[in-house]
Amino acid sequence: MSGYTAEKAIVLEARLLAVAAEVVGPVCADIGTDHARLPRYLLQTGRVERAIAVEKSRGPFENARRALLGLNAEVRFGDGFSVLRPGEASSASLCGMGARRMVGILSRHPERLPQRLVLQPNDGAEPLRRWALSAGYALVREQMVEGFWRYPVLTFERGVCTAYAGLPLELALRFGPWLLRQGHPLLKTELLAQRKRLRSLPPVEWVRFELRWVEEALALLGE
Ligand SMILES: C[S@@+](CC[C@H](N)C(=O)[O-])C[C@H]1O[C@@H](n2cnc3c(N)ncnc32)[C@H](O)[C@@H]1O
Repeated sequence: MSGYTAEKAIVLEARLLAVAAEVVGPVCADIGTDHARLPRYLLQTGRVERAIAVEKSRGPFENARRALLGLNAEVRFGDGFSVLRPGEASSASLCGMGARRMVGILSRHPERLPQRLVLQPNDGAEPLRRWALSAGYALVREQMVEGFWRYPVLTFERGVCTAYAGLPLELALRFGPWLLRQGHPLLKTELLAQRKRLRSLPPVEWVRFELRWVEEALALLGE
């Protein structure tokens, strides 16, 4: 492993650690890499052999170049998967952006997406679950990680998705089939917080609509 010493090893925040544990080598692409802490960690720990870090903004691109100096990594300037060749990476990660922005990035070059995707949106994961169903990616694992917010971390593999079997589809697309099945404690915390917030609002139509979904999910979790 090039350039690794214990002193230089970086400590990752929980959301990126959860992503790192899902990445499969030998080559990972990190789209929207900025500080490049994730690919740096993946290389330093030997989890991947090579990293391709992608950035579309000049300042973060320079940050990434500095962070990855001396490691088996390449930093490419451009929009998402446009700078990747089909089959070049075994996994791709997209972290720390809104889910709708991620859907835009994933949709622009479907033929360049790798077999495995690890996605950590900063907001609700529903648009990503919907995108994956239509794009032929199976949701194989879901996590929720505590941090500045509660972050979903979703792992997808190209293939037929069986994650929703036996669950009400709309409910599972909204809140996550694996999180619902597990009765994930952070999902419960999140739903209870949403219910409290919605109950404090004037009961206009959209509030009643959202509240019904939240209550249905809580009922499924036995709350
Ligand atoms: C908030 S930072 C997240 C950095 C890091 N991934 C993390 O999770 O800590 C989002 C980064 O994504 C970059 N970005 C947004 N859209 C992009 C795109 N289409 N292609 C490449 N980079 C993009 C932004 O320039 C920004 O540096």
